[in-house]
Amino acid sequence: MLPIVDFLRRRGRQAAGALAEQLGISRATLMRAVRAAGDELVVRGAARRTQYAARRALRGQAAPLPVYRVDAEGTPQQIAWLHLTAPDGSALEMLQPLGWPLDEAARDGWFDGLPYPLQDLRPQGFLGRAFARHHAATLQVAEDPAAWSDDDTLHALSLLGEDAPGDLIVGEAACRRWLQRVRAVRAGEAEAPLREAALAQAYPAQADAAMAAGLPGSSAGGEFPKFTAWRDGADGRPQAVLVKFSGSDDSPGTRRWADLLVCEHLAGGVLPALGLPAAVSRIVQAGGRTFLEVERFDRHGALGRSGLLSWGALNGECFGLAGRSWAEAGRALAARGWLAAQDAEALARLWQFGRLLANTDMHDGNLSFRPGEGAVPLRIAPVYDMLPMLYAPARGVELPPREYRPELPLPQDAAAWQAAAPVALAFWQRAAADERISAGFRAVCAENTRRLAALLG
Ligand SMILES: Nc1ncnc2c1ncn2[C@@H]1O[C@H](COP(=O)(O)OP(=O)(O)OP(=O)(O)O)[C@@H](O)[C@H]1O
Ligand SMILES: [Mg+2]
Repeated sequence: MLPIVDFLRRRGRQAAGALAEQLGISRATLMRAVRAAGDELVVRGAARRTQYAARRALRGQAAPLPVYRVDAEGTPQQIAWLHLTAPDGSALEMLQPLGWPLDEAARDGWFDGLPYPLQDLRPQGFLGRAFARHHAATLQVAEDPAAWSDDDTLHALSLLGEDAPGDLIVGEAACRRWLQRVRAVRAGEAEAPLREAALAQAYPAQADAAMAAGLPGSSAGGEFPKFTAWRDGADGRPQAVLVKFSGSDDSPGTRRWADLLVCEHLAGGVLPALGLPAAVSRIVQAGGRTFLEVERFDRHGALGRSGLLSWGALNGECFGLAGRSWAEAGRALAARGWLAAQDAEALARLWQFGRLLANTDMHDGNLSFRPGEGAVPLRIAPVYDMLPMLYAPARGVELPPREYRPELPLPQDAAAWQAAAPVALAFWQRAAADERISAGFRAVCAENTRRLAALLG
């Protein structure tokens, strides 16, 4: 192995000056060594920003992986080459703008791990675990995707990641699978979307299958039991949906989860009054289960896709504000010019709304962005997973007593709180009156209406 490759393999990427110095060679000798190493090196950044890294193979394959973006008609276009670097990290050679904001190092394509927009493609949660169990033996990876290295993830995505969240596909094999689907849809050979009248039969069967063996697709994260489906859309086009479902027994824990799914649907219904888009949802009750069906906003018709980026992925790469409020997220994003000021204000209202809804689960994966328009690269994606998680059964089944104690805002949060409180009140009122919710939990919602109204004065 050439000394320059050996050095970079051990030390990670280096700028030209530092590299020449550490190898004890002149710039001219360095340039000759770089040329001699050829494809064994990854070179990114122009002029003074040029850096060099040794190329890392993925399971013996040294060639870079193509990254594709699927448009609103379902057509993939290559937007980048993904090079892996030693000892870890990657470099994205962009052929088109990535469409997501990049910090200083990433602007030249360098990432310490996988490029952060690919983090959301990782199989995770309920569906991701089923996907991993299903394919672990073939892919030679662990059955728990949380234990996968970046290389395991890329290996899996590059072979089977054609239907991940958002609009990105990595690797030629995965792209071929996507094209097979496009072909099937265009040839009229794809499975027909579910008709409205078929849902009451189909959803319970899907839920049983998801619980028994898990379904092999993995196009959404989240821990709650769910499956993905296609059904006839209101506009006559097929609509991709995520369907979360409660258990089918009549235990108090199961009943509570069913109540909470209805609450999630009702919260989505009041969010527009807060100036925020929400995922369109509805409740289907069938086969002893309650289903919350949510229309996917990263899928359009039979084949169209659009970009989706979680705050978790963006935060981990560019901010390091883990565990902080979405209001702070909005302020940090607006300060960098990545989010419009009015979107940052909307996030402050959303955070207050969630607190007044007793949503104790507003984690970084429950907030996402879509590509922005014009100069601002991000806008808030429709809100999802907004519900009073305070009342979630503990360990999935127990129902310890919970007390709703809405709080008054600090003066700096008062405007957002004032906007959010009437909308939260409307939520509790609707929940208290909705007969799909059990009488016991409706009483809790009625009491919460009184408590919040008292605070509003
Ligand atoms: N309407 C939607 N369109 C597209 N993607 C969605 C939509 N709703 C949710 N998602 C994606 O699916 C993931 C799982 O959804 P959701 O958060 O509702 O599930 P969950 O299992 O309740 O999550 P958690 O583990 O946070 O409780 C989200 O993190 C988001 O990435
Ligand atoms: Mg969630």
